[in-house]
Amino acid sequence: SAIAVIVVAAGSGTRLGHAEPKAFVPLGGDTVLAASVSGVLAMRRAPHLVLVVPGDRVEAARERFAVDAADVGAALDVVAGGATRQESVAAGLAVLPAAVETVLVHDAARALTPALLFDEVAAAVRARRHGIVPALDVVDTVKRVAVDGRVVETVDRSSLRAVQTPQGFPRSSLDHAYATARGEFTDDAALVAAAGLVVETVPGDVRAFKITVPADLRRAEQLLAEQRG
Ligand code: CTP
Ligand code: MG
Repeated sequence: SAIAVIVVAAGSGTRLGHAEPKAFVPLGGDTVLAASVSGVLAMRRAPHLVLVVPGDRVEAARERFAVDAADVGAALDVVAGGATRQESVAAGLAVLPAAVETVLVHDAARALTPALLFDEVAAAVRARRHGIVPALDVVDTVKRVAVDGRVVETVDRSSLRAVQTPQGFPRSSLDHAYATARGEFTDDAALVAAAGLVVETVPGDVRAFKITVPADLRRAEQLLAEQRG
């Protein structure tokens, strides 16, 4: 049964503050999106790849990645995103062929995510038939604070996790959750959980951090340079 990976890359990157939309910012001699795509295309089995990009970049992205995808036998679709991440994921879901049974949703901004994490999330979805999110322990001490900034209490972090992407789901669950969602959710796991469906965790990877602010982009450049020796 087929696996699809939807890479959402239609955001503007306000916090990064670059002239280009975040996914099109230079990284390692190419772009943030190209780094993400190379992780996806290095999966054990070539997926159906859906790129969700700003409307004025659909044609350019299709041209840029057509050969890379074909080289590993991956089908490629490129579609225009929406005003919110959730709308962008929905645009990607709308073009999936019927044969797709497992869907991974990935932030283009998590550009250094290793291929192995995509493989592990996909395998866990297929084995457990639930939503799967990569999660890391929270290392900092976490405080609950009042509106004035005063510390109210220390939160027990043993039950807390920081979650990443790719987040994977049985296709029918994700379709159902998106069709019935009311309001905005911060990630796909929250949207699926709101539909009453089970979401479980697998170990995340520090390299799947999200490029959000300029310091994250510098960290990504350094890690890429180290990887290339
Ligand atoms: N995204 C998207 N469509 C949107 C908003 C976000 O496809 N309308 C994507 C981004 O391109 C990114 C991922 O969702 O890969 C995670 O979002 P985030 O890191 O918040 O990116 P931006 O929204 O672009 O950044 P910012 O919030 O700083 O503007
Ligand atoms: Mg955003």
